[in-house]
Amino acid sequence: MPGGARIRPTILTSVALACGDDRPGLTDAAAAALELIHCASLVHDDLPCFDDAGERRGKPSVHRAFSEPLAVLTGDSLIVAAFETLARAAVADPARGVELVGILAQRTGMPGGICAGQGWESEARVDLAAYHRAKTGALFVAATQMGAVAAGQEAEPWEELGARIGEAFQVADDLRDALGTPDHLGKPAGQDDRHGRPNAVSALGIDGAMGRLRDILGGAIASIPSCPGEAMLAQLVTRYAQKLVPVSILHPGE
Ligand code: IPE
Ligand code: IPE
Ligand code: MG
Ligand code: MG
Repeated sequence: MPGGARIRPTILTSVALACGDDRPGLTDAAAAALELIHCASLVHDDLPCFDDAGERRGKPSVHRAFSEPLAVLTGDSLIVAAFETLARAAVADPARGVELVGILAQRTGMPGGICAGQGWESEARVDLAAYHRAKTGALFVAATQMGAVAAGQEAEPWEELGARIGEAFQVADDLRDALGTPDHLGKPAGQDDRHGRPNAVSALGIDGAMGRLRDILGGAIASIPSCPGEAMLAQLVTRYAQKLVPVSILHPGE
């Protein structure tokens, strides 16, 4: 699979650095494990039983290129590889390692992880905030919490930052889905509309969704826990916010 933006491991590593990063080997393993879970979720999300998407990261999706059975097994194997990566690294610090496994499992499965998020799509009525929180927010909470835990800090104070970044990310993804082109996105555009998925643009309109994005990001910066790298993290969120919805999508031709 070609590399994507790798935003989740970037956040994880940045939080670990902001907290002192005294076990960089464990941080690296946590970051790799998180990205493996994310890749698994994309392979499964593109399957015909979910979004039936033929393109991902500018290439044919896994089931399109290699068949549906192999895409199911690829997703499964990526999940196993994620936990194997963490287990190997946990030897260096079993207490932190076990906590990392627990957080990643909680944010991947049911009832509050990606599996729950994808499961919302089978309900007749969907709570948009709960759907986004589980489908996308969960892995961003895993990113901030695993970064803190890998560096020996408590997980709990980092939940809000991850949840806010995750919510902003999904609102931005909904805007890109509504306004972008397949060439620009490297995946099909207009999927939310086509599948009748609840999304921020249909709920709030384009201007409303942009306003929501700004509010969430302001709250994200305010929620950064106090730590040695607090200012660095605030800068990172600000820089990242500017890239979330490219000007070329909002105002083509500029
Ligand atoms: C796409 O995530 C899936 C969503 C949660 C919206 P990314 O936009 O991070 O995908 P890659 O990893 O960069 O391809
Ligand atoms: C994907 O959400 C979230 C996952 C759990 C993979 P979407 O279906 O909205 O993301 P894209 O547009 O396919 O990347
Ligand atoms: Mg989907
Ligand atoms: Mg999809």
